[in-house]
Amino acid sequence: MFDEVITGFRVARGGAQERYGVVPDLTILGKIVGGGLPLAAFGGRAEIMSRLAPVGDVYQAGTLSGNPLATAAGVSVLRRLRDPAIYDELERRGARLEAGLAPYGLVQRVGAMLTLFLTGTDPFRVVTRMQRLETERYAALFRHLLAEGIYVAPSQYECLFPSLAHGDEEIDATIAAVSSFAG
Ligand SMILES: Cc1ncc(COP(=O)(O)O)c(C=O)c1O
Repeated sequence: MFDEVITGFRVARGGAQERYGVVPDLTILGKIVGGGLPLAAFGGRAEIMSRLAPVGDVYQAGTLSGNPLATAAGVSVLRRLRDPAIYDELERRGARLEAGLAPYGLVQRVGAMLTLFLTGTDPFRVVTRMQRLETERYAALFRHLLAEGIYVAPSQYECLFPSLAHGDEEIDATIAAVSSFAG
C-alpha cells in the first residue's frame, strides 16, 4: 500500500510509484488530488476495489465523498499537470533551492520535495546529532524565516515544497534568509 498523499502528482505525475517503477496494490492520495480543496482518494487493483460497496461486500461511504466542488478543482489541476514541462520546471526549482541551501547543511531532495538539516552534511552524523540538537536550532530557524516573511513547516521532519507559485525570486529569498541564519 503506497501512501502518496505527499508524493502523488508531485515527484512525478504518476507519483513515487511512477518514479521508482513500483506498482502497489493500493494507493492513497490527498493534497494535490483536490487542487487546493479538501479531497482524498484511494484506488488499486480491480480485485481489491471490486470488494467495495456498492459492487462488493465491504461498506465504504462518506458525507462528502465525491464532493463536486473539490473533485472539479482536482480535475482542473490534474489536467494542467498533463504538461510535462511542469515537472521539468518543478525539478529545476527544486534543484535551485537544493543548490542554494547545500552550503548550510544536509539537503535531501526528490523533485520539488526536500529536507534541510543544519547539523552538518554527513547523513549518519546528522541523524545522531539531530536527536540532541536539531529541534531547538530548527525552532530558531523557523522563527527567523517567519520574521523574513517565509513560512516553512514548524517541524524539522516536514519537507520544503517549492511549487509553481514559487519563482526564482522566492527561492532566492529563501536561500538568502537561511544564509543569514546559518551562514
Ligand atoms: C504522507 C501523509 N499521509 C497521510 C496524511 C494524512 O492526511 P490527512 O491529513 O488528509 O488525513 C498526511 C498529512 O499531511 C501525509 O503527509
